[in-house]
Amino acid sequence: MPTREAVIVRPARNILGSLRVPGDKSISHRYAMLAALARGQSRFENFAPGADCNSTIDCVRALGCRVERDGKGAVTVDGIGPSLREPSAALDCGNSGSTMRMLSGILAAQDFSTELVGDASLSRRPMKRIIAPLSQMGAEIRASANGCAPLHIKGGRLRGIEYHLPVASAQVKTCLLLAGLLADGKTVIEEPTRTRDHGELALRAFGATVGTSRHVVSIDGGQLLHALEAYVPGDSSSAAFFLCAASIFPESNLVIDGVLLNPTRSALLDVLTAMGSRISMVRVEEQHGELVGTIALVPGPGHRVVIAGSLTALLIDELPVLAAIAPFTQHGLEVRDAAELRVKESDRLSAVTQNLQAMGARVEQTEDGWRIPGNQKVHGAELESFEDHRIAMAFTVAALRAEGETVIHHPECVAISYPAFFDDLERLVER
Ligand code: S3P
Repeated sequence: MPTREAVIVRPARNILGSLRVPGDKSISHRYAMLAALARGQSRFENFAPGADCNSTIDCVRALGCRVERDGKGAVTVDGIGPSLREPSAALDCGNSGSTMRMLSGILAAQDFSTELVGDASLSRRPMKRIIAPLSQMGAEIRASANGCAPLHIKGGRLRGIEYHLPVASAQVKTCLLLAGLLADGKTVIEEPTRTRDHGELALRAFGATVGTSRHVVSIDGGQLLHALEAYVPGDSSSAAFFLCAASIFPESNLVIDGVLLNPTRSALLDVLTAMGSRISMVRVEEQHGELVGTIALVPGPGHRVVIAGSLTALLIDELPVLAAIAPFTQHGLEVRDAAELRVKESDRLSAVTQNLQAMGARVEQTEDGWRIPGNQKVHGAELESFEDHRIAMAFTVAALRAEGETVIHHPECVAISYPAFFDDLERLVER
């Protein structure tokens, strides 16, 4: 168990057993926001337990919806949409870029003004990517001089636009789909490369019609949503830490039940397969447009892997843990086209490089990725989480294969997406 300041990770022999991971964060944010816009009561079991989705719940509450979370992980939202109530104070998005960017699409269409604030990390992240298209739709948005939070949004009547996204971002795509739902006319969004499609699937689950063809999505404004009852599939980006951990111990055997298998989120399975693991899927079914199933993984010898182009966008949240285990793979890893990692909760490109180097691993950081040789000997070290949940979890996994103990400072940030991470991992680790 972590103390508040640091966690000590001892080397492991093996990863063995089965688990369920918490509900998917991306889907939970979208379900909560759409439930606010729908009429009637929505109910979501296995709703993501982390602080990020709590930020969304708190904002939805502040916008006039009753939201309750029971002791078993279910959340109910009483929708009042499409018009929400003016909040009495600034909306606090905490550490959550998804909350700030996606909710802005809804707020831009309300007939009141709101202020959106975030923590120090979120206040450094780029918001021009939503400000530019929402302004074209007719919203008035003020940000700090460098285009970051706090955001002041003067909402009003929006008009649909045709927009080509300059960066591959599912958060921005969803922001514009939400704004488009509330706008006059049609909104058409073209992505540079395919990103996760939970916004499109969730809108359909709530009864909206969304057009999709290759990299173009479109929505007609003025559609009314109905309430939804759903079970949120296990978060595939949380499952990634366990899959990657299991893949670096030859005797591992891991099963993850009820996990999201959406093709825009499951590219990690292809990468781990190329790296040598044998992965099987059973009990695969569709739930409200999302594929869900059970995955089993046994490791084995494989190849060097290069992640670039459209694959990079599909693996954006899994890259830190893939890089963290790369020294233990047989032939290493190269990642390109991942400059977006610099503007996540931390600068993940340099956070990963610094921690790998502290562990004595060879890594070459490039402008937009890394080259990391495989088959390296790595030692335990004192590491920083950079107060970034995915960095803390990625290096807990790497530490399991290091020689000697590792200390990870500020590990409590795992609560952003996975409060029970250390407990769940401990149950599967053999020493
Ligand atoms: C998310 C999209 C990704 C991802 C983030 C969640 C989403 O961000 O990194 O953790 O739910 O849409 P970008 O779309 O900005 O790359």
